[in-house]
Amino acid sequence: MTLEINTIHRGNSTELLGKVEDESVDLIVCDGPYGVTRNTWDRIESIQHFNLDLIKIFSTKLKDGGALYLFGKSDCIDFIDYRPYLNLQSRIVWYQPSRLAQGRLNYTNNYDIICYFIKGSRTRCYNLDDIRVTQLVELEHRLRCERVPSVTNGKFGKTRFNDKGKNPGDVWGDIKQLTYKSRELVCREALNTIQKPEKLIERIVLASSSPGDLVLDPFTGVGTCPVICKRYGRRFIGFERDETLIEAAERRLNAIRGNERITANSAASTLLTKVG
Ligand SMILES: C[S@@+](CC[C@H](N)C(=O)[O-])C[C@H]1O[C@@H](n2cnc3c(N)ncnc32)[C@H](O)[C@@H]1O
Repeated sequence: MTLEINTIHRGNSTELLGKVEDESVDLIVCDGPYGVTRNTWDRIESIQHFNLDLIKIFSTKLKDGGALYLFGKSDCIDFIDYRPYLNLQSRIVWYQPSRLAQGRLNYTNNYDIICYFIKGSRTRCYNLDDIRVTQLVELEHRLRCERVPSVTNGKFGKTRFNDKGKNPGDVWGDIKQLTYKSRELVCREALNTIQKPEKLIERIVLASSSPGDLVLDPFTGVGTCPVICKRYGRRFIGFERDETLIEAAERRLNAIRGNERITANSAASTLLTKVG
């Protein structure tokens, strides 16, 4: 049986994954359990083994050169051997300096990691120009640097600063967590443990897929990844077991017409009425 495209399927993703055609997926955005909260869906005995099982099955579903972004805490792939299945390219640190909870016995955790894997040795795509970020220095200063003899004559003599910006690197501190005040927040219940910022998913989808590509989101939540896929012309398959979250995601998707850019406000008000 083939799964319908551009649809969020209700059910257990470990079962639904079996229905995804082998070697059909260009990109997987896996924002599933972290194994750290009290949510029923997040109670996982060993997050590392849970992730290894996912990595094994994802490796069969990805096309050669396809990418997987796996979200988690800093230890989420420790002491497991994923190397026979996928190649780890980066452990991206999503730095969130605004965490309110302050540790008393240890350093406060201020980041999540996003493990970026590819299948095989060569990525299908890495669209750097679509994800460049502003240079830290102003244009005038950059130009001055380009004329400094040590730069002109040295190892980086051919380096030119790109006016479109620079590679975002592997520490992403420029994308803020959602707060109660975020316009895109679907409902308060989705804050912290569920909904991710659109900007975060946007960077991943733009970098590692092209228009028309198939993106798999096995833990869809309130649909941030499908929303970005629809906005940027990617096809998607989503899995989620919570019907209320699927309904919220569908409202967000329905609010996007053509290339129109939207926020989740319309979806938010409807879900709030339902939840509240
Ligand atoms: C961190 S949230 C994903 C949030 C999503 N990225 C967003 O921005 O809305 C993880 C989601 O996975 C769902 N989930 C967890 N285990 C699942 C499973 N075995 N099958 C289907 N969905 C599951 C949870 O209900 C939760 O909504």
